[in-house]
Amino acid sequence: MRTQVGIVGAGPAGLTLAHLLHVMGIESVILEHRSRDYIEHRVRAGVLEHAIAELLVDAGAGDRLRREGIVHHGIELQFAGERHRIPLSELADGRTIVIYGQTEVVKDLVALRLDAGLPLLFEVSDVSVDALESERPIVRYTHDGEAQVLECDVIAGCDGFHGICRPSIPTTVLREFSREYDFGWLGILAAVAPSNDELVYAHHERGFALLSLRSPELSRLYIQCRPDEDLDGWPDERVWEELQIRLGLDGWTLAEGRVLEKGVTGMRSYVAEPMRHGRLFLAGDAAHIVPPTGAKGLNLALHDVQVLADALGAWYRTGSQALLDAYSTECLRRVWRAEHFSWWMTSMLHRADADGDFGLRLQLSQLRYVTTSHAAATSLAENYVGLERV
Ligand code: FAD
Ligand code: DHB
Repeated sequence: MRTQVGIVGAGPAGLTLAHLLHVMGIESVILEHRSRDYIEHRVRAGVLEHAIAELLVDAGAGDRLRREGIVHHGIELQFAGERHRIPLSELADGRTIVIYGQTEVVKDLVALRLDAGLPLLFEVSDVSVDALESERPIVRYTHDGEAQVLECDVIAGCDGFHGICRPSIPTTVLREFSREYDFGWLGILAAVAPSNDELVYAHHERGFALLSLRSPELSRLYIQCRPDEDLDGWPDERVWEELQIRLGLDGWTLAEGRVLEKGVTGMRSYVAEPMRHGRLFLAGDAAHIVPPTGAKGLNLALHDVQVLADALGAWYRTGSQALLDAYSTECLRRVWRAEHFSWWMTSMLHRADADGDFGLRLQLSQLRYVTTSHAAATSLAENYVGLERV
């Protein structure tokens, strides 16, 4: 089989790339090793930056996003028993965030792809990439029990952090930068109306908590936990009890509901440079990971593929490789800004035992500064909604 762009992975990055290419008349084949049902129900991120929501709408993939996405103009920071609003739109030139689950982004893109009769193969196995430095890179895989070879002009490695594309780049070429955190998030999705109109990021001496949402009937909540936390130790009642303590506030109650999903996410900061080797281009989590506190992971993934689609479009149209050559550098500028912001938000809001009471006092000072200084609040706001230029 032959195609123009071979895409490994049908996460948000791979699916969006395929769609953007299709709009420009460029062919692609997506290979995904999980099932359709699995990728459509994997609960992850929920916050889209202004420009990323616009990207999906402008590409014709945002009809439901426009109808069902919930536009927010601010977030709240809670510490020392008080809540403080950061008016994002006021501070960031009117830009907003849109609450729309990653599961919904994925469902919309899968439906568009399959309705158009375009190739998206699920449950492929034994995926490997080869001949990356040639003009005919190939993807090998097994589908329905048969070994296949896909010949491409370029390969997009959109296969997430544990995929096979990044490890296919020689270690002499790839530089890795990373930081581990000694905590994670325990997240629940609950069938209950969100108890607050805006997201609440809460600093608490027992650890961080976050109140978020997916719809007027669905709440999404997180608490800081150990990275290897055993869910058996967290029956629903205990999760709610801990959320009540960490998010609790005089005169406000957190409404509880049936828990529909529960999971633990470890945290890591990671960047691989460069994001390209020969005809292989890495995008999204395949190239970089951020801790979730800044809500940047999904947004970065979609930004990468926007840059890649533009570069591939220019290459097919004009034969010029200039934008493809600039791809890695162009993406890494935004990646490192998001790495810093995510690390900063994480450090300001989580309890880190190693930092002791000194660290706690620094966090409270920083939180007070961010919620009282116009300059500091503006810095948080413009990073959170997504910087126009980096
Ligand atoms: P992925 O979504 O990981 O997609 C990669 C795809 O490639 C997957 O479908 C995978 O099955 C497939 N794949 C992997 N290996 C192969 C292979 N060998 N062959 C074929 N296919 C393969 N971000 C936030 O902003 N907020 C959050 O709350 C948040 N929570 C998260 C929770 C978890 C558990 C995880 C893992 C991530 C979370 N993130 C969050 C990050 C965000 O979800 C990711 O940044 C986003 O999914 C990146 O999209 P992607 O398409 O690059 O990668
Ligand atoms: C959500 C996840 C995040 O990482 C975040 O910072 C805000 C909201 C969410 O899943 O809703």
